[in-house]
Amino acid sequence: MSKVKLAVFASGNGSNLQALMDAARSRPGAPVEIALVVSDRRNARALERARDAGVDAVYISPKRAGGRAEFDAAAVRELEARGVQLIALAGFMRILGADFVRRYENRILNIHPSLLPAFPGTRAIQDAWEHGVKTTGVTVHYVDEGVDTGPIAAQCPTLIRPNDTIETLTAKIHAVEHALYPQVVFAAAEGRVRVHGRLVTIKPPAIQLPPVR
Ligand code: GAR
Repeated sequence: MSKVKLAVFASGNGSNLQALMDAARSRPGAPVEIALVVSDRRNARALERARDAGVDAVYISPKRAGGRAEFDAAAVRELEARGVQLIALAGFMRILGADFVRRYENRILNIHPSLLPAFPGTRAIQDAWEHGVKTTGVTVHYVDEGVDTGPIAAQCPTLIRPNDTIETLTAKIHAVEHALYPQVVFAAAEGRVRVHGRLVTIKPPAIQLPPVR
């Protein structure tokens, strides 16, 4: 069966990109080929990881693009040139405009380091920590026109224990992300994920949630 062409958008370290690339390479029957990595930061480690893995990677300069619509249009050109069918945001810290989101409706996933709708935005781990919650976690959701508001595909909790620090919490959350995201992206690529309004269902085999730590 031919593989689904996946693009990963990343602004930073790219550890979730790495988890996706590793899973795409090593899992027998992996349903995706990572056709493109897009970044809005020239020096993103994610771009380096992609190039090291021999994956096509492009930097789109937000400044040169000129505005959100222009940035998004430049991204669409790159995606269309490679026949991309599915998009995974992985630490992509830019908001995609409504036209882009509509064009790829129910084909853009995002990973977020909290149990949404708690702690949306770019500082979720820190916000949860400062709020003093005892449980936080990871959410994989479809991207809609809001910020971190789209239909939720999967969630996994992470406990904040008395001896945790923000560093140990961050490490635990990242480990959950790396275990969860490839599974959900692959399920979507296999056509096993359905969005019915706010409700997302995944046909078997079920997502294996990592142990709660
Ligand atoms: C991840 O924790 C991801 O959930 C978060 O950025 C980090 C990127 O790490 N995304 C957001 O906060 C989106 N609002 P990575 O570059 O190592 O994958």
